[in-house]
Amino acid sequence: MSLRSFNPYYRWIFPWILDRVSKVVTPERELLLQQAEGLVLEVGSGTGTSFHCYPETISRLYALEPDAAVMQRAANTLADMPYEKQRKIELIRADAMVIPLADNSCDTVVCFLVLCSVPDPIKVLTEISRVLKPGGRLLFFEHVLSDSKIVQRWQHRLNPLWQSCGGGCQLNRETAKLIEAAGFRLAEYDRYQHHSFPRLVGQLISGTAVKGSG
Ligand SMILES: C[S@@+](CC[C@H](N)C(=O)[O-])C[C@H]1O[C@@H](n2cnc3c(N)ncnc32)[C@H](O)[C@@H]1O
Repeated sequence: MSLRSFNPYYRWIFPWILDRVSKVVTPERELLLQQAEGLVLEVGSGTGTSFHCYPETISRLYALEPDAAVMQRAANTLADMPYEKQRKIELIRADAMVIPLADNSCDTVVCFLVLCSVPDPIKVLTEISRVLKPGGRLLFFEHVLSDSKIVQRWQHRLNPLWQSCGGGCQLNRETAKLIEAAGFRLAEYDRYQHHSFPRLVGQLISGTAVKGSG
């Protein structure tokens, strides 16, 4: 059990905030996750907001989440789903720095607002590459370092405070570069400013990536 589990903010308030905030991007989530196929791993699946957004055609979803309080909410989300959907989903309490799945076992890996929060994104992306089958796809949706110099300055300034109350979330990651640095090729890539997000987290990237030269 981590020290975070004893912190009342992380035990009660953070999972509640996460659950509400993650629903703001439901249309974007539904659009991206329609591309999921076969055996799917969702990294940092949070409170399970994505569970309703996967196509019925996927064969299985492993929802990997390290935080016990957040995962409890995901278990509640799962319990409220129809049995036909529920039976395909398995919650795995684990850290994405060491993914407990075999090499070349997944058709799709999903990172939805999670590469901002993992301690070492290159290590996590290397693990994702390991578990993806050749030709398998990483679907990603992430907030990143802004294009605006003024916003960038505030992202750097506020980052220490933000990460301490946002579960380690970093405001200033250049995640597309990290995905490429980990050996993925960006197959589809969109970068835009979200109209209703605060500018600190409003620069978004979304798309698909394949491992190696794919
Ligand atoms: C901003 S939340 C997003 C949750 C979810 N993907 C969503 O869209 O609602 C970031 C998530 O990453 C998880 N996370 C943080 N570090 C992680 C790690 N090392 N491995 C896996 N997940 C991690 C957090 O517990 C949290 O659930």
